[in-house]
Amino acid sequence: MRKPFLVLALCGVLLAGCSGGGRSAVDANEAITVGFSQVGAESEWRTANTRSVKEALAVPEFRLRFSDAQQKQENQIKALRGFIAQRVDVIAFSPVVESGWETVLREAKAAGIPVVLTDRAVNVSDASLYATLIGSDFVEEGRRAARWLVEDSEGRPEPVRIVELQGTVGSAPANDRMRGFKEAIEDDDRFKVVRSQSGDFTRAKGKEVMEAFLKAEGRNIDVLFAHNDDMAIGAIQAIEEAGLKPGTDIRIVSIDGVRGAFEAMKAGKLNATVECNPLLGPQLAQLVRDVHAGRAVPRRVTVDEGVFTRDQAAAELPNRKY
Ligand code: AHR
Repeated sequence: MRKPFLVLALCGVLLAGCSGGGRSAVDANEAITVGFSQVGAESEWRTANTRSVKEALAVPEFRLRFSDAQQKQENQIKALRGFIAQRVDVIAFSPVVESGWETVLREAKAAGIPVVLTDRAVNVSDASLYATLIGSDFVEEGRRAARWLVEDSEGRPEPVRIVELQGTVGSAPANDRMRGFKEAIEDDDRFKVVRSQSGDFTRAKGKEVMEAFLKAEGRNIDVLFAHNDDMAIGAIQAIEEAGLKPGTDIRIVSIDGVRGAFEAMKAGKLNATVECNPLLGPQLAQLVRDVHAGRAVPRRVTVDEGVFTRDQAAAELPNRKY
């Protein structure tokens, strides 16, 4: 492990001063090497998240080793082992699923490499296996989607028959959003989740699974709850192809708040989206700095998010950053 960045940066600044400013304050040997393992490129959200992380770490202070796991845990474990072998200074990753990380995280700990989790959580019995987690409160996002539905269902016919498109099986956002949503409606007899299946957070799978829901349930679907906007957008296509009006015949609430969702809301095809902020790069960069310098960091860093409905879409669309 290299010495903390602060000390080295100071030396760099002093040297730059002595040599008349002929070299940058942080030279290549002093940069913090960060190994970042991303989940994949499954959604608009993920693309924005990757861009944010790459931009925040594209400064001389950092040297980024980026790896795309293509939604496979085995690829992520391989990438983490690669980072350990290369003796990077800090490992950051967004775990595709929650379980199965103990062994590789113990290897990182034994090598003295701090780990920062971004976006998604892991299930480990030893809390010291990672330093911090920065990301959204997915349980609360599920609750927010349900609260929107409860409010929007006032005065409508009962029961409200819901189909649910889950995210990647075993992932923190799928587990937590399902839990939060269920928790918020389970004591209300009006709401019935009649089908629930994974669409793996992708448009293609969202469409495919929605087609199956429509085939099985016919016209008896009142609401779609999709764990992300991409699956909702795929499902919208399936609903239209089935001769129904998305947003009217089937009300739709999803999660992320990406530009595509705002466009769908503006067109009247999506009713509401719960924001999940992917722009974690700048905060991640600060956490990497802090753990590398040995400074204390909060165990959990969350982000502020809202809920947007169709009537806000046109005004809000120009302000969206992702
Ligand atoms: O982990 C965040 C989730 O992963 C986003 O909601 C989804 O779009 C992404 O693929």
